[in-house]
Amino acid sequence: MNSNADLAALIRNIPDYPKPGIMFRDVSSLLLDAEGYRMTIDRLAALVDPDTQLVAGIEARGFIVASALAYVLGLGQLMLRKPGKLPGEKIGTDYTLEYGTDRIEMHVGHVQPDQKVLLVDDLIATGGTALAGVDLIQQGGGRVEQALFIVDLPDLGGAAKLRAQGVRVASLIGFDGD
Ligand code: PRP
Ligand code: MG
Repeated sequence: MNSNADLAALIRNIPDYPKPGIMFRDVSSLLLDAEGYRMTIDRLAALVDPDTQLVAGIEARGFIVASALAYVLGLGQLMLRKPGKLPGEKIGTDYTLEYGTDRIEMHVGHVQPDQKVLLVDDLIATGGTALAGVDLIQQGGGRVEQALFIVDLPDLGGAAKLRAQGVRVASLIGFDGD
């Protein structure tokens, strides 16, 4: 994971945010760097299963990764949205975050039966968000066999939880001690 030390160096570390003792890993500084952003997307694209049919991004920061990746791969993008944003018939999943609770929603009919969907987000920590994404896509009839992240905080256990669900997980950068 840490062979991407060049990318890791572009991530800003903000201590004690949002609360004392938490080190916030800020991908905005990586995205700001043109070469860093391009390399991030290219390296993630190289990890994608060739039979992937759709890229799902989780609002908000997941969209930044998923949309570039979908474009590079020549695939469509499925938006998993925070509540109250979708106008059509929808399904939703509530989940627990490291700092509270949230919900994501998806339009009914936007995943085809058994369609192979890649789940993408900027970062996985406790895994609550990504597990909700898997649940939602499966509720919609799709299959999630792979999930990709720029950053994994393995000590928070999210990637392990996703793997326990049968999802193959990869990330470019791992930060221990979070
Ligand atoms: C952040 C991050 C991931 C999630 C990871 O999103 O972008 O989606 O937390 O945490 P977890 O693995 O513990 O669930 P957040 O909802 O904070 O905000 P965003 O709308 O900026 O993406
Ligand atoms: Mg997010």
